[in-house]
Amino acid sequence: MDLKKLIDGEELNIPKHVAIIMDGNGRWAKKRLMPRNVGHKAGARVVEQMCEDAYNLGIKYLTVYAFSTENWKRSVEEVTGIMNLLRNYLKDCIERASKNNMRVRVIGDRTALAPDIVDRINELERKTKDYDGLQFTIALNYGGRDELRRAVVCLAKDVKAGLISPDDISEDMISDKLDTFDLPDPDLMIRTSGEYRLSNYLIWQLAYTEFYFTDVLWPDFTVEHLKEAIRYFNGRERRYGGVK
Ligand code: IPE
Ligand code: IPE
Ligand code: MG
Repeated sequence: MDLKKLIDGEELNIPKHVAIIMDGNGRWAKKRLMPRNVGHKAGARVVEQMCEDAYNLGIKYLTVYAFSTENWKRSVEEVTGIMNLLRNYLKDCIERASKNNMRVRVIGDRTALAPDIVDRINELERKTKDYDGLQFTIALNYGGRDELRRAVVCLAKDVKAGLISPDDISEDMISDKLDTFDLPDPDLMIRTSGEYRLSNYLIWQLAYTEFYFTDVLWPDFTVEHLKEAIRYFNGRERRYGGVK
């Protein structure tokens, strides 16, 4: 059963899992004649606020796209800036998570991340693993195709070891090998900044998710925009291939 909540006088079904492509930081900075990294910094502050707002609205799982496997193509200056921002973010996050009872997970390929960042991620995941407040997931050096590729490698190894037979491979077995193995599929996916594409985000998990696109740039995204997305979600009829 979906959680129902009274929001601004209207009873709404609250999506259990919301996934966000936080896009438009660069354009936000450009509009202000500032370097792109200023936009990333502003965007990171919005993420913190969104964790609180989402939870207060009754959303249980929030998954955000912070850095894609393709984002390494950007300038060294920008990538270094994002990684440094992430270091600070992860440090502060430990304290905030304990205060808010928030569990944090990171999905994506960690092998390409700096060792100190990996240490911080491990610590954050370990320290928050029993918290049952917001289940917050950060997609970092994440690509849906890369995630599927890694899952295929795992399954191929299981086949080679004689643990499973190729014909037995089921959709559930694939889901179980993904980084999101312990998360439900998203109910609602939001992309900011007026782009209408997935950019390699959760390509397996979003199979039956409702999509909401807005022109708002990520650093300008507020709880009012999130409520708007939830209202849109309430207007959709999820059929899952059936007839209603
Ligand atoms: C999203 O904002 C954040 C990351 C991809 C790290 P962008 O940096 O993509 O901003 P735009 O799309 O260039 O405006
Ligand atoms: C997707 O945004 C990745 C993140 C938001 C982290 P991009 O800005 O990298 O995507 P494209 O390049 O516009 O497709
Ligand atoms: Mg972008």
